[in-house]
Amino acid sequence: MCSCVVVSIIEQSAINLAVEALARGELVAFPTETVYGLGTDAMNVSALRHLFEVKGRPRTHPVIVHIANVDQLEQWACHVPPSALKLAGAFWPGPLTLILPKAKHVLDEVTGGQSTVGIRIPRHPVAQALLKEFGGGVAAPSANRFGRLSATCAEDVCSEFGDTIAYILNGGPCQVGIESTIVDLSSDTPQILRPGMILSDEISSVLGEPLISHEHAVSNTSKLVVRAPGTLPRHYAPKTPLCLVRSEGLYGKIEACKASGLTVAVMSFTSAPSSFSDIAWMVASGNPVDFAHNLYRNLRFLDRQSCDYLLVESVPDEKAWKAIADRLRRASAHGL
Ligand code: TXA
Ligand code: MG
Repeated sequence: MCSCVVVSIIEQSAINLAVEALARGELVAFPTETVYGLGTDAMNVSALRHLFEVKGRPRTHPVIVHIANVDQLEQWACHVPPSALKLAGAFWPGPLTLILPKAKHVLDEVTGGQSTVGIRIPRHPVAQALLKEFGGGVAAPSANRFGRLSATCAEDVCSEFGDTIAYILNGGPCQVGIESTIVDLSSDTPQILRPGMILSDEISSVLGEPLISHEHAVSNTSKLVVRAPGTLPRHYAPKTPLCLVRSEGLYGKIEACKASGLTVAVMSFTSAPSSFSDIAWMVASGNPVDFAHNLYRNLRFLDRQSCDYLLVESVPDEKAWKAIADRLRRASAHGL
């Protein structure tokens, strides 16, 4: 049982406690509209080191700096191109992260030693209240242990970290449910480094120019440095091996597992036929927005069933599902 303090939504006293903790260099988990973040003062070296230790994340992986409003951008980026202001105007506060050339004082602990910094203005009211009251930048990766599923409610943050963090601000379930879209504006051509629920087409129509897709960015990064851990082949993974299965092969795969004495938990677009009524089975929405909202919660539920495998029905190969397909691909294991 977790003994950390879980405080409820937008009580000013709770925000004040959290801000005092940040100022002391402690860790505070907070809700954003995408996933919960594990935050600390982005200007405090020892606090950042502690954050990386608690998360179990290699130090070379950069973290996003969260700020309250666009006036603070210039404190973190040495150059704010017009494209950044366009995207900020269209999507901030919201589920978008911009990669910009970093300002001089931005710590290597934040950037992983790179010359760029990731910045986001989240729109969740609790995140907004926290960031406004704190005044500075809050470095926050997703509030999960490195490589694991992101947390989309306070209880899941608690089960990840127990009492190793000072406060969890409980803002209820996250609306979007998967991590922000990351757009790299630090070079001549904008690139999507991580797809999210703000779609590539929406971004290019605001910018008035095409983007380099994240698949291209990934193939570049695997040759060079790993700029975004979300681009590592295995990430966002449950403990139980996850297999993606095409719709037409799902029932056959379940039968085959049963015949081999393997237990499975299933996420499918349709409900379980009566012959599989003994199987832990989540019915996922056919609407990508709802699917994303529930994705990590559903996977965490299935993971808790302690089965040999999670079988997840593949999602449509369409633009609106791209970010979801990306997360499922990275969550999936091979070899079944
Ligand atoms: O929705 C989100 O983005 C959530 C919430 C809490 O804001 N945060 C999140 O953080 O997903 P994290 O650390 O789990 O993933 C952030 C990604 C990482 O893949 C990181 O490598 C990348 O952003 N990133 C951060 N700074 C970067 C930089 N300067 N250049 C390239 N990638 C960067
Ligand atoms: Mg993460």
